[in-house]
Amino acid sequence: MSTSQDQSGSQADNTYVINSADAAEMARLMRQDQLVTQGMGGLFPEGIDLTDVHRMLDIACGPGGWVLETAFAHSDIDVVGVDISERMIAYATAQAKVQGLENASFRVMNALKPLDFADGSFDLVNTRLIVAFMLPQKWPWFIQECLRILRPGGILRFTDLEWGLSNKAAFEKTCGLFNQALRKAGQSFSPNGLHMGLLPMLRRFLQDAGCHNIGRLAHVIEFSYGTEAHDGFYHDLAVAFKLLQPFITKWQVATQAELDVLYQQVLLEMQLEDFCAVWILLTVWGYKPG
Ligand SMILES: C[S@@+](CC[C@H](N)C(=O)[O-])C[C@H]1O[C@@H](n2cnc3c(N)ncnc32)[C@H](O)[C@@H]1O
Repeated sequence: MSTSQDQSGSQADNTYVINSADAAEMARLMRQDQLVTQGMGGLFPEGIDLTDVHRMLDIACGPGGWVLETAFAHSDIDVVGVDISERMIAYATAQAKVQGLENASFRVMNALKPLDFADGSFDLVNTRLIVAFMLPQKWPWFIQECLRILRPGGILRFTDLEWGLSNKAAFEKTCGLFNQALRKAGQSFSPNGLHMGLLPMLRRFLQDAGCHNIGRLAHVIEFSYGTEAHDGFYHDLAVAFKLLQPFITKWQVATQAELDVLYQQVLLEMQLEDFCAVWILLTVWGYKPG
């Protein structure tokens, strides 16, 4: 692990909606990584051709689950993960060592600042679930930065999320309050705060940046009561909804007292036999010109 203090940034300029230094968040992301990979049907369910991919980067890798699994599945590819959280990078680095994955490595890095990699040094750059920190106005710059570190013909690949689709009132309300807070924070593409709003933008971003052969694949992960994913999502969201409360109160879309009541209701709702809910994910990828 190497860290670069000026690059990693302080908590003050960390735009992530949850405190990424929190151990509970790291534990939650470890579970969520598996739920998402499984729910999407694997690491590269779209079937991207990895024949010419020898070095890849995962930006905002969290505790490193995707990087470690990819490095294990593709021992001929060097997989690098970066994240703003020193705790997560330390954990991911330790995991790579324990698992004997010499082709996996990790560094602390702030994706909202110039990336500390040479031009053309990767064949594939990946992100998954960065909606919770990437600023709308930063997207065009961020894509250019990803393209800078990709070789010509390299692959840029984004997977992100829209949530809050369910048949229960407290569940919808909780997700809705978060969506409103995200908008008030200036971190949403939704004009009215009804959604997070990133999914409709992804293909356009790649097109505007001049990428070619742009592809898209949508995924629906259902975690209704009685489904295989229900238990995992129940535990994931029980932690997420709690850890999101400071962000929601900071942007004054609800009081702590209101959130406390809502939290109890949402836990009960998710345990009801008629609870139905899905996450929608979209993977969009394209190739750097040249
Ligand atoms: C929702 S998690 C996604 C983790 C992982 N990509 C996955 O799919 O399992 C978002 C991650 O972004 C990281 N993060 C937040 N702000 C960041 C920034 N400015 N630069 C790099 N990583 C950041 C957080 O520490 C967290 O690990």
